[in-house]
Amino acid sequence: MRSSPVSKKVSRLSEFEIECKGLTKRFGAFTAVDGISFGVKRGEIFGFLGPNGCGKSTTIRMILGLLSPSSGSTYVAGMDSAKDSDKIRQRVGYMSQKFSLYDDLTVKENLDFFAGIYGMHGSVRRARIDEVTNLIDLTEFKNALVASLSTGLRQRLALGASILHSPEILILDEPTSGVDPLSRRRLWNLINELANRGRTILVTTHAMDEAEHCHRVTMMQSGHVVCTGSPEDLRANQVEGIVYTIDCHPLFPALSAAESINGVVDASVLGSRLHIRVPTGGISPESICESLRHSGIMVSGFGLGETTLEDVFVAVAGEAS
Ligand SMILES: Nc1ncnc2c1ncn2[C@@H]1O[C@H](COP(=O)(O)OP(=O)(O)OP(=O)(O)O)[C@@H](O)[C@H]1O
Ligand SMILES: [Mg+2]
Repeated sequence: MRSSPVSKKVSRLSEFEIECKGLTKRFGAFTAVDGISFGVKRGEIFGFLGPNGCGKSTTIRMILGLLSPSSGSTYVAGMDSAKDSDKIRQRVGYMSQKFSLYDDLTVKENLDFFAGIYGMHGSVRRARIDEVTNLIDLTEFKNALVASLSTGLRQRLALGASILHSPEILILDEPTSGVDPLSRRRLWNLINELANRGRTILVTTHAMDEAEHCHRVTMMQSGHVVCTGSPEDLRANQVEGIVYTIDCHPLFPALSAAESINGVVDASVLGSRLHIRVPTGGISPESICESLRHSGIMVSGFGLGETTLEDVFVAVAGEAS
């Protein structure tokens, strides 16, 4: 890329392909996004995590230049979102949370329609539609009406439609929302495949377990960033204490009993077991089991557990509120 020291319109050089700096959005008296900063590095899958209403989609709208920040700034590929939104949108594939497909058109007709919007023509357009249909693995459904597709297949098609123009940056707002575990896995395989092809990907979810697919994540709560790092770093450095798993029955009464035990920092149900966090050197697992038995719970064993990203979120979001 050519650059000139005297040029007035020089893109910012940054290690980040997407960057938010002190980004704030107020709607009247309500602050939806409150001075957040994070950066997405070139070629990484970056998870943007947080519960409903924490400000993920609002942040994305500001990154794309669809919404003006109240203060702070965002940059995409070195361009200021507030000034260069048209150029940014050419470089970005955006799958919005409510991506609109046309139910009464087939898979192929939908892709053809979106390719037209991106200004693609002739043999290039046909070849790219075939390539994307193959990549999202919908070739056998190419003549099926979208109305007949499952949510998982629709989400794959929506992702395909957002990458027709071969963008180098992808912003995917809850691509796995409402899809079953198998379809979720296929969507993540697809996201990984796109990252392997060199794309930079920002993806939102409220499912903490999905963060395991990301190189790095930012966790957000009520408009604030509560932590940023790789899943491994966050698990190792953001949560103190030891996790025990306890096999017991019945599970949900056991959970409320565990929550009231002195010395238990956090308790949750993970699969068919209780997942309990205690401070290092704190209450022993034997004492926890004893207390549970006193509450009428049948305990059949315990073991050491592993910190999950949900533990991280509960710990950091609790500290931040
Ligand atoms: N145009 C608007 N006017 C007023 N409030 C808004 C507007 N857009 C968003 N909000 C509010 O800002 C907050 C953040 O919304 P946002 O859609 O960014 O959350 P989110 O993290 O994407 O949530 P979800 O996981 O449910 O998609 C919410 O309380 C929402 O009601
Ligand atoms: Mg949202």
